[in-house]
Amino acid sequence: MNEPIKKIALLTSGGDAPGMNAAIRAVVRACTYYRIECVGVYRGYEGLIEGDFEVLSGRHVSNIINKGGTILKSARSMEFKTVEGRAKAYENLIEAGVGALVVIGGDGTFTGGLKFIQEFNFPVVGIPGTIDNDIYGTDFTIGYDTALNTVVEVIDKIRDTAGSHNRLFFIEVMGRDAGFIALNTGIGSGAEEILIPEKDIGLDKLEESLAKGRDKGKTSSIVVVTEGEKIGKSVFELGDYIKEKYPAYDIRVSVLGHMQRGGSPSCFDRVLASRLGVAAVECLLDRVSGVMVGVINNEVILTGLNKAIKLNNEIDKELLRVAEITSV
Ligand code: F6P
Repeated sequence: MNEPIKKIALLTSGGDAPGMNAAIRAVVRACTYYRIECVGVYRGYEGLIEGDFEVLSGRHVSNIINKGGTILKSARSMEFKTVEGRAKAYENLIEAGVGALVVIGGDGTFTGGLKFIQEFNFPVVGIPGTIDNDIYGTDFTIGYDTALNTVVEVIDKIRDTAGSHNRLFFIEVMGRDAGFIALNTGIGSGAEEILIPEKDIGLDKLEESLAKGRDKGKTSSIVVVTEGEKIGKSVFELGDYIKEKYPAYDIRVSVLGHMQRGGSPSCFDRVLASRLGVAAVECLLDRVSGVMVGVINNEVILTGLNKAIKLNNEIDKELLRVAEITSV
């Protein structure tokens, strides 16, 4: 990294998240501010391999700060997992005169970025963009806050039905292997029980807690469940299991799915994305590579991509305690 950087490429990869557009806008505007060129790469690493590039000016990113999804589109590329794929991508960047790359995404995105640095010594900086909040080195990932608000709004609506029909609802939320969305929306929506992969409460505890609620006169209940296998069962199997044991319960299962990834980003996500977009460009201009920009205790902090990928964010024990106390 001896030559001054004149052109930066930018891509979004993995699952889209609200606020990615705000981050794209911030990267492009920071490039304009520092008088360097910004090249948008379409469809993540797929577009990098195919050379699907477009020079982005400040005006290309007008009126996108409020939009969900990603204007650069996203993909999960299998070809970039091969040495040949990455070599093609490298050649395309060199041919386009690009001197550094900003990647917005999650774990998979950063793993690709790290490989790229190791193989070609090409400067890469990562920006955490995923609704799951499962990236080490930042208190919040872009899109997480919006997803929390979306989920809470939907659970509030489902509670209307649960209350009106005296029903028990199992509501599955996203998060892949992480329970951040479930724990926070469970507390925020007043769920009776929250099932997260980080803390296996076991079926006995779930049954006990439902029975306690019933004894206290609760006529409806909400159980928020992180997607994937829980207590060895899918959310539907869980519903069937409880129904079989307790036929009196009127049970429904709701899988919220991709609605959690869409929609206009919250103000929090827009500000976070703007800060991290600017920080990513400034890192590269300062010749810093192989890091992810994140926010810890409201300060922009750099974390090695290798750490961001390997380490896990811990579930907040205090939140677990609050969930337990407030759901009695
Ligand atoms: O990582 C974001 C996420 O929405 C996860 O919560 C979920 O497990 C996964 O992506 C779904 O991926 P896809 O949209 O490829 O089905």
